[in-house]
This record gives sequence, C-alpha cells and structure tokens, in this order.
Amino acid sequence: MSESRDFAHGRVELVQGDLVEQQVDAIVNAANSSLLGGGGVDGAIHRAAGGTLLAECQQLPVDGQGRRCPTGECRVTGAGNLQARYVIHAVGPVYNHGSAEQSAALLRQVHLNVLQAAAQHDCQSVAFPAISTGAYRFPIDEAAAIALTAVRDYLALPSSVTLVRFVLFSADRYQAFAQALSAIPALELE
Ligand code: APR
Repeated sequence: MSESRDFAHGRVELVQGDLVEQQVDAIVNAANSSLLGGGGVDGAIHRAAGGTLLAECQQLPVDGQGRRCPTGECRVTGAGNLQARYVIHAVGPVYNHGSAEQSAALLRQVHLNVLQAAAQHDCQSVAFPAISTGAYRFPIDEAAAIALTAVRDYLALPSSVTLVRFVLFSADRYQAFAQALSAIPALELE
C-alpha cells in the first residue's frame, strides 16, 4: 500500500513496510538518548546495519547527563550495511512526560531537526518511522498529524530534500497517516 501528496518543494510518500528495506539517502531511527540501540525500529536498524553502526554511535560525545542525543534532537552517522548513506538517530518525546503541549512541540521539533540535518548532508530522500508511537506511547493519530504538518511546513521552502517517506509497520498505523495526510490543509503560499 502506498500513497503520496505533493507540497511546495517536495513529495510526501506513505508506504506500509519495513524501514530497514528502504532505498533512500537517509533512514531515520526512533532512538533513545543513549544512542546505544534498543527494541522496535532501533533494534531493527542496528540488526540490519551491523555492528559498525553501534561502534559509530559509541564514539559520539556524551553530555553531562549521560545523553548522546537529548529529546527533540538528532545525530547523523553512517548506515553500515543498510541501503542508505546515513542513519539519522532521532529521539522523540515519551508521551505525557511533561505536558501534552510539550510532547507535541518536541515531536514537531524532532522532525524539523531531522530534515535540516538531512539537508546539511545533501540528502534528497529521507525515510521516517512513526517516531514515538511505539514504546514512547504517543497516540498514532496525534503523532501522524504533528509529523506530517512539520514536513509540510519544512517543504514550504526549497532544500536538497525532495522526497520524505513515512514507512508504517502495520495497516492501522498506515491508515492513521493516510487519514492525516489527506486532512492537512495546504499552506496558502503553495
Ligand atoms: N519498520 C518500520 N516501523 C517500525 C519497525 C520497522 N522495522 N519496527 C517498529 N516500527 C514502528 C512501530 O510499530 C511504531 O509505530 O515504529 C514506530 C515507533 O516505535 P518504537 O520503535 O517503539 O519507537 P518509539 O516509540 O519512538 O520508542 C523509542 O524504543 O526501541 C526503543 O531504543 C528505542 O528507547 C527507544 C524507544
């Protein structure tokens, strides 16, 4: 299953499938602040990429709170054995850690930070999972609207990124994103 929608400076695509099989310039990981792997998408990416990915993550600096990447931010590494140039490790918010507004703002911000990082690495295509909608318990309908609105807003301006793909692991998550994608109003400037 797949569908797409064109915005001012790029296309958003939805597919149901496995993120690690995507042939794009950058694959986005739904990571935690340690960047040392985990379950879900994080586990799948590290398994598919191989041990060099973890080794590269371990080289990244740790802040005073033991974090390699604070919530809402991202870090870029190589992609090991994956069919991509980069893995962009993004740390989404844990739902209701803080207010609903804070969670929503952090989820929007992490998508914008990932796209900016992808453009800084001259990526044309980026594949996202549904960040924070698994272990971090963000409701899928809310997350879909936040993620897709952030991408719409990013694509309002030109950058190297012209294809943003969301790879949904199940039919119900795909449907949530499809519903959100059709409901998002176009920006007036388009
Ligand atoms: N491809 C695409 N999507 C996937 C895949 C996959 N191979 N595996 C899981 N998903 C989906 C889940 O169904 C969910 O919709 O990715 C979404 C995000 O779920 P999680 O991977 O649990 O990520 P998140 O909710 O952001 O929680 C991050 O979980 O795995 C740990 O180390 C990770 O601590 C971090 C936390």
